[in-house]
Amino acid sequence: MNKLIIFDTTLRDGEQAAGASLNIQEKLEIARTLEALGVDVIEAGFPMTSPGDFEAVKKVASEIKGCTVCGLARATPKDIDRAYDALKAAASPRIHVFISASEVHMVHQLKKSRAEVLQTARDMVARAKGYISDIEFSPMDASRSDPLFLYALLEAVIDAGATTLNIPDTVGYAMPGEFGGLIEGIFKNVPNIDKAVISVHCHDDLGLSVANSLEAVKRGARQVECTVNGIGERAGNAALEEIVMAIRTRPDYYDVTTSINTELIYPASRLVSQRTGFAVQANKSIVGANAFRHQSGIHQDGVIKMPKTYEIMDPHSVGVPASSLVLGKLSGRHAFKERLAELGYNLSEADFDRAFAAFKELADKKKEIADRDIESLVAEEQRTVVEAYHLDRVQVTCGDRGVPTAAVRLIDPDGKVLEDAALGTGPVDAVYKAINRLVGVPNRLTEFSITSITAGIDAIGEVLIRIESEGVSYSGRGADTDVIVSSAKAYMNALNRLLAVKMNGQEKAARSRPESGERT
Ligand code: KIV
Ligand code: ZN
Repeated sequence: MNKLIIFDTTLRDGEQAAGASLNIQEKLEIARTLEALGVDVIEAGFPMTSPGDFEAVKKVASEIKGCTVCGLARATPKDIDRAYDALKAAASPRIHVFISASEVHMVHQLKKSRAEVLQTARDMVARAKGYISDIEFSPMDASRSDPLFLYALLEAVIDAGATTLNIPDTVGYAMPGEFGGLIEGIFKNVPNIDKAVISVHCHDDLGLSVANSLEAVKRGARQVECTVNGIGERAGNAALEEIVMAIRTRPDYYDVTTSINTELIYPASRLVSQRTGFAVQANKSIVGANAFRHQSGIHQDGVIKMPKTYEIMDPHSVGVPASSLVLGKLSGRHAFKERLAELGYNLSEADFDRAFAAFKELADKKKEIADRDIESLVAEEQRTVVEAYHLDRVQVTCGDRGVPTAAVRLIDPDGKVLEDAALGTGPVDAVYKAINRLVGVPNRLTEFSITSITAGIDAIGEVLIRIESEGVSYSGRGADTDVIVSSAKAYMNALNRLLAVKMNGQEKAARSRPESGERT
């Protein structure tokens, strides 16, 4: 009972974050990373919401054998059958059935009485149980529900076969003491509770998701639902890295352990950030760029004398790359390959060749190449989106006199060279306009952020953007020592993502806007 089950929902609730959209290949890549990280359960998606989500869950279920693969389903026969269809190839499948339990949801959204909700929950859990044995049940908006109704509902679904009871703080409303009290109340008042594991699923609307989850663990919950970097619906979900490291850092306080290989936390965080296009804020706990940086003289002095003075965790324990400068212009293929292996990368031949060529190019511009630069290169060269158009060349003139002008050259899907030029309000605007003239897909730039990967004037600049077309959002990433080139690469990446979705007719898979009742 001292094992805490880590249920990762990056691919489901995480992907529900406005503007996140992952293709199947990216979902599989993240699932493999989560498996290596040691999570116990991967919630791979919500199969009923779209053919794309169904295919993604199916793919993850058939490829990931090291952990349980879960699919979400509303308490309806169609959802449950669809979830089973997607999951049936899994080595260890789980169906996660949910229905709202708060008065406000039952009256205004579901339009069902308590008795109807209870009966539906019981019947649908029993239906799922007819397919497989591992069934999770969530009374949505549990923290705003009447505890007496909640106890009755939980008792009924355990009788119907639920093996995990997940208590969501769906709207991030609960306070830690109160949420802990709810968990304690469930243990005391649900007579058959010994037949199930209690899980919690907390949202971060008031910044309390991790505190609420940890308080629940203190009161006996043995599964926590969380996401890498805390991404998720609205303000997000409890962050996996924060839960895991709190437990590991304070064994004197939490009498539980997890199976997480913590050294893979940082690479997982980078991957999720790169693939979803959500930058990690510098001061983010555990994985932010400043999480282990000491600025004040007194702190630096202390850390030099004894790291424990100001460091409660060893940065290596979460896989933060050493800042030692290791490679340069004279480093060869072998040294590069070894460094990649030390950083946990195992690239295909083609990805390695591209990454090495990019490394050599970078070494011509930048004398010292740090681990963070290498990570950025690899992210750039690992192809997760089929390129319809390839950016071949970009050239700008800009400054405080004259009109910013850009010329671009693209290679189209048939290998034809396309060239055009445009004026803009700034160099990035000019580049994007020139690309638009060639690609001709209407869209709107909704987000643009730029961060420097390392310190120093010759650092790589990473651009993360989001564009919107027909109500769907697509992310793009680009990195280069020239931030205009990074911007052009990020735009091409987002456009290629958009074109891939359009070509595959997968609009729904990438949808970022909920259809009524389909997203949670
Ligand atoms: O936030 C929520 O209530 C959910 C449930 C489906 C668990 O995501
Ligand atoms: Zn949620």
